[in-house]
Amino acid sequence: MDNLDKQSKKYFHIPVMLEEIISNLDLKKGGYYIDCTLGGAGYTSLIAEKIGPEGKVLAIDLDDLALENAKDILESKGLSNVILAKSNFKNLDQVSHKFFPRSFKFDGIVFDLGLSSAQLDDESRGFSFKGTRPLNMAFSQTSEPSTEDIVNKYSVEDLAKIFSDYGEERKAEQIALNIVKKRKDKRIKTTNDLVKIIEEVKPFNFKSNIHPATKVFQALRIETNSEYKVLEQALEKAEEKLKTGGKLVVVSFHSGEDRIVKNFLRDRKNSSFKNITKKPIECSLEEADRNPRARSAKLRSAEKI
Ligand SMILES: C[S@@+](CC[C@H](N)C(=O)[O-])C[C@H]1O[C@@H](n2cnc3c(N)ncnc32)[C@H](O)[C@@H]1O
Repeated sequence: MDNLDKQSKKYFHIPVMLEEIISNLDLKKGGYYIDCTLGGAGYTSLIAEKIGPEGKVLAIDLDDLALENAKDILESKGLSNVILAKSNFKNLDQVSHKFFPRSFKFDGIVFDLGLSSAQLDDESRGFSFKGTRPLNMAFSQTSEPSTEDIVNKYSVEDLAKIFSDYGEERKAEQIALNIVKKRKDKRIKTTNDLVKIIEEVKPFNFKSNIHPATKVFQALRIETNSEYKVLEQALEKAEEKLKTGGKLVVVSFHSGEDRIVKNFLRDRKNSSFKNITKKPIECSLEEADRNPRARSAKLRSAEKI
């Protein structure tokens, strides 16, 4: 069984804009890099190969599934220059201090935000609205509050606000009202329970290529993982841990994430960062055909000055 077969059996994820990532990180032989979102180890293993045995990749993920899979991939590729760390990337400075001196700075830090295809397919979690799965959208497998608690305990106003702010859902209030009405009869426990409640407000439409639950699911995932706050904190830590000339590369998948990265770089323009990408890079048509997930990806990169 070759590596790809082995990888796809356990953990399927096609890395997005891999070539662009590598060129924007401007990899150096013997360089030191942090991959804040290990996922299927697509970026990590290519970075590790390119920098050679003298260099190192510190690869972080919250998900045991990703970390276990990466161990096998790295072993099968004979790569021993990767440190795997289970942590939230908002703590990337503390993770670095575990393995390197406190003053140590990196040549590049990369983020590929959101979730992997393997997590979407994982039936023990509720990232996908397909099938009947537990309402659990935590990257780390548990969260406080859980997605189920958010759905069953948040007020109408709070639910409507997250659906609107994080999902840009036009029917945010009606969906929130229907959730609160339905949960009075019975606790909402599965993705299927939730999809039915959403579809009462937004019926499934064969002509639309967006499922009616897409935006609400995205909003619940962002809320469950405090994704916006965590990203802001992580970017500040990345600023601290990059050496002068070091590269920051971020791939985001929706406007809220991209706005955070854009504003972060705008606020530091000519003080601590110089933009490499003036406008975000999008994937090629060929990649969009091959990997539909890449269609919404936006890559921004900057150099620490
Ligand atoms: C899109 S995937 C990364 C794919 C990866 N670049 C590859 O080449 O396979 C995103 C990964 O980031 C992880 N993740 C998301 N938020 C995180 C956080 N705050 N801290 C650590 N890992 C996080 C997810 O668990 C997921 O495995």
